[in-house]
Amino acid sequence: MSNTEQTLSIIKPDAVERNLVDEIKSIFQKNGFKIKDSKKIHITKDEASEFYKVHQSKPFYNDLCSYLSSGPIFVMILEGENAVLKNRELMGSTDPKNASENTIRKLFGISIDKNSVHGSDSPDNAKKEINFFFKS
Ligand code: CMP
Repeated sequence: MSNTEQTLSIIKPDAVERNLVDEIKSIFQKNGFKIKDSKKIHITKDEASEFYKVHQSKPFYNDLCSYLSSGPIFVMILEGENAVLKNRELMGSTDPKNASENTIRKLFGISIDKNSVHGSDSPDNAKKEINFFFKS
């Protein structure tokens, strides 16, 4: 049975700054995702704190929110078969040094913070995260 899903992808400041947006978009498209909507934005630290609030108890929360608001990001709604899981596989492990060959984080990630992309971790969070950036 088919399972078309949507998920949220963010190209983070480190990758936008290195002009990797078109290259990363083309990786998604070559892997069968449709980019249903997208925009380049620069969010405030308060907005980043709201977006990442599931991590508020973590020691890295403050740095994470400062980082996501440190420069422009490129946000996309990706659509495809099992898009949530497929996007996570294509991104690779959170820490680029543990990511598999040919994943986006292996190809472009610099560190666990500057890991180039974010992707929703479940269908429920995908809906929330899409709604956060693309209010319907
Ligand atoms: P992301 O998928 O955007 O979700 C939360 C982010 O926190 C994660 O990618 C990392 O960039 C960042 N982060 C920083 N330190 C850690 C850590 N120790 N464990 C997990 N994520 C971390």
